Amino acid sequence: MTARIAPLDEPFTRFLELFERAKKEETHDPTAVALATSTMHGRPSLRMVLLKEASFQGFVFYTNYQSRKAAEMEANSQAAMAFYWPVMNVQIRVEGTLDRTSAEESDAYFESRPVGHRLGTWASEQSREIDSAAELARRFEEVEERFKDREVPRPAHWGGYRITPEAIEFWFGRDNRMHERELYTRAGNGWTVRRLQP
Ligand SMILES: Cc1cc2nc3c(=O)[nH]c(=O)nc-3n(C[C@H](O)[C@H](O)[C@H](O)COP(=O)(O)O)c2cc1C
Repeated sequence: MTARIAPLDEPFTRFLELFERAKKEETHDPTAVALATSTMHGRPSLRMVLLKEASFQGFVFYTNYQSRKAAEMEANSQAAMAFYWPVMNVQIRVEGTLDRTSAEESDAYFESRPVGHRLGTWASEQSREIDSAAELARRFEEVEERFKDREVPRPAHWGGYRITPEAIEFWFGRDNRMHERELYTRAGNGWTVRRLQP
């Protein structure tokens, strides 16, 4: 077994190269990613979110800070993500620790969103029960009316999370199920890279 030591930027550079390719080649939105969180007792839950930033700092998505996932993330900051890009036959798994993005970062992204999406963050108490779709539509109209003549500010209950990865695994589909897997695990100022069997 031969593990290799890689510099800090290597898996991020690899991710970004593949991500750029996915934006050109994939037919579905390649920013859609499965996000797994779990309760403090270890009960997992999973849903899709959209990746809004990927850099050496980590992987960022935005959500409601009062949602089910947020409650889980606040209680247990360990999370995992899985991307699947079927045209390229690539899977990328990320595991790590979550932190909220800064208020400035969340503001900057919020301001870039279409006004309807911004209104939606005020209208929806994500993950809470509601009686009907009509009730939700009524809440949206109320919010529209409230912000009719002014900018829609970011609500304090909405913002980003960043996963700082401890592990990133690249999976490349190959013939006869002889897929290639390379697992990066953080080791000091760099990464240990191991090749895994498919
Ligand atoms: C393709 C796709 C992308 C989504 N992107 C987001 C997102 O970026 N942020 C978000 O809060 N919910 C997003 N959702 C909705 C979530 O999957 C989920 O329904 C919602 O966040 C509530 O999850 P929770 O109750 O576990 O907190 C997306 C759903 C789909 C199908």
